[in-house]
Amino acid sequence: MNTLTRRLYAARAQQGQGAARPAPAASASPAAAPLRPAAATASGGADPLAAYRITREPYWRPVADEVALYEAAYAVRMPMMLKGPTGCGKTRFVEYMAWKLGKPLITVACHEDMTASDLVGRFLLDAQGTRWQDGPLALAARYGAICYLDEVVEARQDTTVVIHPLTDKRRMLPLEKKGEVIEAHPDFQLVISFNPGYQSLMKDLKQSTKQRFGALDFDYPEHEVEAEIVAHESGVDRETAGKLVHIAERARNLKGHGLDEGISTRMLIHAGSLIAQGVPALSACRMALVRPITDDADMRDALDAAVTTYF
Ligand SMILES: Nc1ncnc2c1ncn2[C@@H]1O[C@H](COP(=O)(O)OP(=O)(O)OP(=O)(O)O)[C@@H](O)[C@H]1O
Ligand SMILES: [Mg+2]
Repeated sequence: MNTLTRRLYAARAQQGQGAARPAPAASASPAAAPLRPAAATASGGADPLAAYRITREPYWRPVADEVALYEAAYAVRMPMMLKGPTGCGKTRFVEYMAWKLGKPLITVACHEDMTASDLVGRFLLDAQGTRWQDGPLALAARYGAICYLDEVVEARQDTTVVIHPLTDKRRMLPLEKKGEVIEAHPDFQLVISFNPGYQSLMKDLKQSTKQRFGALDFDYPEHEVEAEIVAHESGVDRETAGKLVHIAERARNLKGHGLDEGISTRMLIHAGSLIAQGVPALSACRMALVRPITDDADMRDALDAAVTTYF
């Protein structure tokens, strides 16, 4: 703990209260798509998390016991890590869980150039002078949201460490520049996701970060379940959805043998949506399944052959 944090702790202990609550921050600009317009709190004030509340139930087809396990993790506010390949349902799952638990969800797409200030907040200069703006992590911790850091390994390790005091028993977030320590709201939870396949030595989480989290593994669901999801999401019938899943299964077998990644559930939904619109199945599959994942002529031929087997 540095001197500033120690001083703030001492000041708080003297006052016998939690972290100071400044005026509600203007909305941050995380990547989450708000599913509900701004609303007012019961007390009549603006709800700083209104834009992040999920009112419509997101469609989630349970695959195993992930819902019960996540609920248990949330009950003890265990930070969670969702691992799995692209397009297999990690984001949808966290949206569904936030809805089920009735908690707002703030999503941040992590990237290499992201700084700690992008997460925590910064002073902004406007006509009235300088004012503090909470970053998405501070907003979630202060008012009680689930904060979802998507593709967290993309962020540099010196950025990732800002989550450490929030993800152990302290549950606090020091805002060094502002001279404030936020004590996390009881509803706050941190969730991170990443695709283990894309990791390199340079891009991995430190053990001291990993060991703060519980983890759930995600993968493409088994045939019948995936066909059900594709049919539901794209509007094609079950038979067509089943054929799309067969094509994906063929492609997934080629992973590591010329393909970096197999065809995801997301891609199958794209193909299904085109077919449901009246696009011929062959063209839909080439456009949505084959061309995006490879430029290699032989590989394209192999995938095209898989498509023509079923359509
Ligand atoms: N079990 C499931 N129930 C309902 N929909 C699912 C399920 N699994 C996958 N999907 C569908 O797959 C789509 C892609 O999933 P999602 O966007 O959550 O992937 P992701 O794992 O977050 O991928 P990325 O790592 O690229 O962000 C979702 O929009 C959803 O339609
Ligand atoms: Mg995602």
